[in-house]
Amino acid sequence: MKKVLVIGATSAIAEHCARIWAARGDALYLVARNEERLKTIAADLKVRGAKETHSHCMDLNDIDSHAAVLVAAETVMGGVDTVLIAHGTLSNQEACERSVEETLAEINTNALSSISLLTHIANRFEAKQAGTIAVISSVAGDRGRASNYVYGSAKAMLTAFTSGLRQRLHKSNVAVVTIKPGFVDTPMTASFKKCLLWAKPTAVAAKIVRAIDKRKDEVYVPAFWWAVMGVIKAIPTRFFKQTKI
Ligand SMILES: NC(=O)c1ccc[n+]([C@@H]2O[C@H](COP(=O)([O-])OP(=O)(O)OC[C@H]3O[C@@H](n4cnc5c(N)ncnc54)[C@H](OP(=O)(O)O)[C@@H]3O)[C@@H](O)[C@H]2O)c1
Repeated sequence: MKKVLVIGATSAIAEHCARIWAARGDALYLVARNEERLKTIAADLKVRGAKETHSHCMDLNDIDSHAAVLVAAETVMGGVDTVLIAHGTLSNQEACERSVEETLAEINTNALSSISLLTHIANRFEAKQAGTIAVISSVAGDRGRASNYVYGSAKAMLTAFTSGLRQRLHKSNVAVVTIKPGFVDTPMTASFKKCLLWAKPTAVAAKIVRAIDKRKDEVYVPAFWWAVMGVIKAIPTRFFKQTKI
């Protein structure tokens, strides 16, 4: 039985991951800012078979409370062995271009808040020489694009941070799994026109849980995004800057 801390537990992708863990009879500590939705999800996961579910309501930009939430999860579940960090916002690129405050707020939510959590979790897992930490980054972090480079640069920071953290924690038996989804049909992307490249959160969650089970390093979800991003990254900058990709 796993003891899983799910941060950003009201995310559609995180909720589908939690359903898989619940069906296996794992214990779940759920953290999110929407109390009502959190309670509904916790009750549903219990019915789906979770050994125990606990809800913790907080705004994840409240960095001063990060250490306390980890202690709370460890205390009530008698330890934590797996963490999934899933919260995020799809930045309004045009609003960010007009406002430094908006840009920094987006970087804060999509990168700095996770980096704060990762620093606390890494030190706790390193001390006990065990654990798996998974973070949802994005293919958007592979190359900055005009249409979403604020969100993309925050995810790039997360990807680079987890790369270094993985190398640091390797000798301590702690796995760091960086997840890079492509387009996923969730509330975050509700307004987007969908095409064949879009995946459902159920399928994406199954692949994320599998990657966590196997303690993978970095995974593109679905896997074809590895090839797509390989092509996008290979385009020389002098051509790339003229495209609308
Ligand atoms: N959907 C995609 O196409 C896609 C692609 C690549 C990567 N991702 C990443 O996948 C992760 C999950 O996103 P999703 O697709 O499942 O979208 P989602 O359902 O909209 O989930 C995003 C979650 O983040 C939470 N959140 C945002 N800011 C928060 C804060 N300050 N404190 C607490 N919670 C906060 C939201 O809570 P509220 O509902 O309370 O606002 C929401 O539950 C995100 O990191 C996203 O960047 C998504």
